[in-house]
Amino acid sequence: MSDAETAQPAQHPSHRPIFSFSRRSGRLTDGQQTSWETLGPKYLVDVERAELDFSVNPAFRVDPAELFGRDAPLVVEIGSGTGEAVVAAAAERPERNFLAVEVFVAGLARTLRRIEDAGLSNVRLVEANAVEVLEHMLPPGSVEELWIFFPDPWHKAKHTKRRLVRDGFSAVAANALRPGGRMRLATDWEDYAFQMREVLDAAPEFTSEHPGDWAPRFDGRTLTVFERKAAKAGRRIHDLSYVTAE
Ligand SMILES: C[S@@+](CC[C@H](N)C(=O)[O-])C[C@H]1O[C@@H](n2cnc3c(N)ncnc32)[C@H](O)[C@@H]1O
Repeated sequence: MSDAETAQPAQHPSHRPIFSFSRRSGRLTDGQQTSWETLGPKYLVDVERAELDFSVNPAFRVDPAELFGRDAPLVVEIGSGTGEAVVAAAAERPERNFLAVEVFVAGLARTLRRIEDAGLSNVRLVEANAVEVLEHMLPPGSVEELWIFFPDPWHKAKHTKRRLVRDGFSAVAANALRPGGRMRLATDWEDYAFQMREVLDAAPEFTSEHPGDWAPRFDGRTLTVFERKAAKAGRRIHDLSYVTAE
């Protein structure tokens, strides 16, 4: 079986797919609800669904140039949380387009507010499972950089199969990236960092930019509340950086 055929979501023995997230309550505060209603139409991709409410219909495609109203290098952040990193990066790099992918609705609502407050026109959001966004929604080779910062660690042994970066993920990620595109990752869980390195070092589509080592901290990643808390709790942050063949 090829990597693409084993791509996520993996199958549970009961044939239920295993996702890298557990959907949190979709309840929003009044302010978040207002952001969702007033700003959603401006920045949220109107996704065609398959069966589940965070899925992407396999026939659904988006043309990034049309979505942003211009052709520019596209950065995709998977698991953008409340949008702290993506909004700071988009403000710093106005010449790039940024697509934030998240399933946590309250986080997306907060991101909408941040985008509007910062007056940015180069960010769009997708409420969907990122694996399906990469597999179906985005044209192959359309992504300049893929960012995965502090993905859910699923640190209990019985949960590690839920991790986003596992067998099958590399092929999906590489297919969305342009030749010579880059994937940047960061995690505060050491054993997940080793798992990422093992999975990506073994992936024929990727080459490490720091073989056998960790990447230096990516200075385009703003220091978020999340990262600060992890550091305060004494967890070392590991960065990784991989490129696809030219
Ligand atoms: C630990 S949080 C980190 C959030 C953010 N990157 C930060 O540093 O603050 C991980 C986020 O990834 C999201 N997530 C996990 N798997 C995802 C997937 N397959 N598609 C979209 N979002 C996902 C979760 O909902 C969660 O908000």
